[in-house]
Amino acid sequence: MLAMDDLRAKFEAAGQGHVFRWWDELGDRARRRLTRQLEAVDLERLPELQAAIDALQSPAARNLSPAPTFGLADEDFPYLLNDAARALAPRGEKLLREGRVAVLLVAGGQGTRLGFDGPKGCFPVMPLSGMTLFEVFARKLRRAGRDFGRVPPLYVMVGNHNEAATRNFWEDHDWFGLQPEDVQFFAQGEMPALDAHGKLVMAQKDELFTGPDGHGGVLRALHVKGMLADMRNRGIRTISYLQVDNLQTPVVDPAFIGLHLDEGAEVSLKVVRKHEPGERVGIYCLDDGVPGIVEYSEFSEQQASERDGQGRLKYWQGSIAVHLFEVDFLNRLIDRGTDLPLHAAHKKVPHLNEQGEPVEPTQPNAFKFERFVFDTIPMAGNVMCLEVPRDEQFLPVKNADGPYGPEGVKQSYQDYFAKAVEIALGKKPTAIEVDPW
Ligand code: UTP
Repeated sequence: MLAMDDLRAKFEAAGQGHVFRWWDELGDRARRRLTRQLEAVDLERLPELQAAIDALQSPAARNLSPAPTFGLADEDFPYLLNDAARALAPRGEKLLREGRVAVLLVAGGQGTRLGFDGPKGCFPVMPLSGMTLFEVFARKLRRAGRDFGRVPPLYVMVGNHNEAATRNFWEDHDWFGLQPEDVQFFAQGEMPALDAHGKLVMAQKDELFTGPDGHGGVLRALHVKGMLADMRNRGIRTISYLQVDNLQTPVVDPAFIGLHLDEGAEVSLKVVRKHEPGERVGIYCLDDGVPGIVEYSEFSEQQASERDGQGRLKYWQGSIAVHLFEVDFLNRLIDRGTDLPLHAAHKKVPHLNEQGEPVEPTQPNAFKFERFVFDTIPMAGNVMCLEVPRDEQFLPVKNADGPYGPEGVKQSYQDYFAKAVEIALGKKPTAIEVDPW
């Protein structure tokens, strides 16, 4: 009980004593539950959360300039990657044949915009068979195994909210033909939320509100959950990082890997040419000469619309969140105790009011905090950026409708493959699906 008093005193000293508001009403189990959760809160980091809110409210001035990128050699269908990348594909293939590449799939998000009941990876995305995103990725991995003689091991990052459902789904489907020992799930961390007065938000009388700590939570989770150690044991050198909602991404790309190795990059990324100045994607560019991703919201309208001598967008490199990471680089960040910066977002967060009644806000009421995986880029010794054709490699299921909603995605998917069939056979199919295997 003394420890309990200590805990309470600590929260009170930090101006967060309200988390004990309903303590006297709670039974033993509820008290234990709340205590466990509160013990895990690092109160010393509250100033970091506040700093993230300040940065959101008054963003620092940027000194932006375009970043070097290996552009496409042919922008017309069926497209050609940059000459250097194509020439270096054998080097990437060699690394794959040696079994030194792992695939890291992040699937810990909440998929709020899609509004699907279940992990996003379980979404039936394929237009004819209804195959799910997870199965698409598994079949692509099996195909890589056929092409390169080894199936790269798969690491799937999940969140507390979808870990059990994700594991069960893979188990129920016999790991979609992959070897269970080559598929590992690990849960990312959680972050609390702060209200407008800097107070921790309560979800229940015995529970703080928490949410997943962003795809950037992957850095710490890989370490804490022993995944980096597992990679070391398996002799993995390079990680192919993917997001679960991108239906069209290859799981491993020898040309991308070959160029990454040749450039001595610690982090690489793929970009596509922005459709129009206002497109809401992060832009790869230099800030004070340092490469990184700058959010679309940080570009002024005028800056986003700037054109070069040929009338093309000056800042055209839209990141599609496909990366390569050197395992040594991630280990170095961990060894130095580096954390990726926190970003605050003003969101609608369900909570209890002072009377202990549940509130479903209709307006943003609190700040949530996430880390972004691309914040590793400015920390890397060397960065390589490769342009890829949009319709060939970027088709994320994000929203409930529109081009990145299920119907839009199925349509774009079919348009892409129908175009290929039409060129090959002179006739356009009315419906098409291609087995990712
Ligand atoms: P998004 O930022 O698009 O988020 O994630 P989301 O969760 O899929 O959807 P919304 O924003 O709630 O509508 C891009 C990728 O990063 C993963 C997601 O699973 C998706 O693959 N992600 C995101 C995580 O793994 N963890 C997170 O905390 C956030």
